[in-house]
Amino acid sequence: MATEIKTIGVLTSGGDAPGMNAAIRAVVRTAIMRGYSVKGIRHGYNGLLTGDIIDMNLRSVSEIIHRGGTILYTARCLEFKTLEGQQRAAQACRDNGIDALVVIGGDGSFRGCKDMAAQGIPCVGLPGTIDNDIACSDYTIGYDTAMNTAVEMIDKLRDTTHDRCSVVEVMGRNAGYIALNTGIAVGALVTLIPEVPYDLERDVIAKMKATQKTGKQHFIIIIAEGVGHAQDLANEIQSRTGIDSRATVLGHVQRGGSPTLRDRVTASRMGYHAVELLRKGIYNRVVATKAES
Ligand code: ADP
Ligand code: F6P
Repeated sequence: MATEIKTIGVLTSGGDAPGMNAAIRAVVRTAIMRGYSVKGIRHGYNGLLTGDIIDMNLRSVSEIIHRGGTILYTARCLEFKTLEGQQRAAQACRDNGIDALVVIGGDGSFRGCKDMAAQGIPCVGLPGTIDNDIACSDYTIGYDTAMNTAVEMIDKLRDTTHDRCSVVEVMGRNAGYIALNTGIAVGALVTLIPEVPYDLERDVIAKMKATQKTGKQHFIIIIAEGVGHAQDLANEIQSRTGIDSRATVLGHVQRGGSPTLRDRVTASRMGYHAVELLRKGIYNRVVATKAES
């Protein structure tokens, strides 16, 4: 028999991503307008284990569509990875009258959804991660903002650098999406991503030397964090070419800031869709976008 859903719980989990707030807003507003109650679970799955659960209303999500981070906070919760933790979390849902969960996060958070579903709690996942590494979706909430931040930073870096090689490390965990698009957007000489093996001498050093002969004096090389460390590559380039090389690790700035239009729209549409799925009695799914321009 289908579970009757009266109250929806929403949480953000794993690495935060710009646009998570827009997704929370859409979930809360759509759910309330459709007659559901909504509870916000703070600090990811941790909130279920510690009872950090708040009632949400239409005004709880005012003025957040443009804000980075997540008003519900996010966390990585080790205890939840255990069967006992999952059973406690499911019991916390039942104790708090939460009939279904919307989980905004990455693949790790979705593994958690699967476990909650196995404990009898209906779940819908929204892909929220800058890495764009959710297989079923062409696009994840936060990815566009992260790439735009990386481009903005590298444009600034370019202004300060002459006769040098800048090796810039971007995030993405094991995926090269941020690196690849950022590399194209800043006109990098070389972009290294985990999906494509490379040969240092052939793909980096020889290319630098060849373009140097055409008069090029400043080199930008993008390295995805899943390939290795920018500093190691910069050291290697300097010792093999003699070109003064510097490493810049963009790090967590890529996860912050006001979401772009694209992230706000995607998050809003996905949040709306999550509630609509639950309304139709469809759950234990991930909302995805396919072949969007
Ligand atoms: P992301 O969701 O961004 O990929 P993580 O991989 O850190 O981030 O996962 C976020 C949280 O999801 C973890 O801290 C844990 O609470 C939960 N989680 C991750 N993997 C599992 C798993 N295999 N089983 C149950 N829960 C998991
Ligand atoms: O998944 C998002 C992400 O920012 C990855 O790009 C990165 O590898 C990781 O999280 C960093 O995690 P932490 O915030 O724990 O350092």
